[in-house]
Amino acid sequence: MKMKSFVPCITTAVALFTTFALAANSFAGSNLYYAAGLSSATRGTLLDALQGTGVKVLRVWLDGQSQSQKGTTIDPFPDLEPVTIGTYNDTVLERLDDFMIDAQAHGIKLLISMHSFNALQAGDIYGQIYGTGYFYEQTTPQQQFDARLEHVLNHVHTSLGKPWKQLSDYIFAFEASENEAMIGKGQQYIEDHQSWQCDRASMTKSVLGDNSDILVVTGGECWMDESVQPDCDALDVISIHAYGAGDFATSSIQTYLAISTRENDDCPTGGALDTNTRNSNIKTWASQIDAAGVPWLYWQIIPNADPHYGYDYEIGVGDASWSPFQAAALAAGQATAVFDYSEYLL
Ligand SMILES: *[C@@H]1O[C@H](CO)[C@@H](O)[C@H](O)[C@H]1NC(C)=O
Repeated sequence: MKMKSFVPCITTAVALFTTFALAANSFAGSNLYYAAGLSSATRGTLLDALQGTGVKVLRVWLDGQSQSQKGTTIDPFPDLEPVTIGTYNDTVLERLDDFMIDAQAHGIKLLISMHSFNALQAGDIYGQIYGTGYFYEQTTPQQQFDARLEHVLNHVHTSLGKPWKQLSDYIFAFEASENEAMIGKGQQYIEDHQSWQCDRASMTKSVLGDNSDILVVTGGECWMDESVQPDCDALDVISIHAYGAGDFATSSIQTYLAISTRENDDCPTGGALDTNTRNSNIKTWASQIDAAGVPWLYWQIIPNADPHYGYDYEIGVGDASWSPFQAAALAAGQATAVFDYSEYLL
């Protein structure tokens, strides 16, 4: 399914991916970095709500969480490599085994992010040993991280009895590298280390095989230019994370044409917007992204009332911003996409 195609009428030729199709529908998704901590009841609340909006993809992370997040009570879980690199605690994978079955029953596939800059910077085992520089620069951590990728891809689902790399009915994509890899280090550093992203994607692709129906994607950066880096055969989709509202202009997105954004305000600071501003931003930005023919994943829908903590982008199911989100997600499902993702969605 390797298909990169140049799309006409785009001024900047950036490497593109997946089939160019005239009649494909776009879609909306959401993110929940602590999905593995949800009780089955809370998971049900979230998935029922998302299903009602036609959301197709939920992006989840593997980093451990020790306490409640964003007002959501969670069952804590450790990092995949809690103490020693290469010694895995599969709790997070096993939790996601259950999650993906329930998600699929709601018409939703998972996008699995393998690691995050956030965890590295916060001092997980890779951060403790290598910090945020050597991790990307030295051979040993690259090999160790590749082993982690292999471990995840080969994790045998506890009830389905098959490895994740074969579960295309449940998994939309693997984010081969990381959430916002190198984000703290600036665009020049990211450009200079593009090969880090590409090598991890190649590793993932080699385990998945060329005919996998699971996509290999990047984990975004801070703004549009910074997000669109790797020109790499192993990558199917470049994810754009953009915190600056200007990046959400249709013309700006059309410059690059990719998948996935966050509808945030600042990078990475910002407080709560008043409800009217927020609701109007959701509507405007979502429709601008739809007009560019690109799917988007909201950061993030949470299964409880939003406590409005700092960096406040969340929407709780049933909050004042829920119905604008719902309308925006339903509209995305009716919008025309530049790339045809249908074979990867439920
Ligand atoms: C993995 O983590 C769980 C949850 O913290 C813990 O109960 C279990 O003992 C750990 N397993 C191993 C092998 O360390």
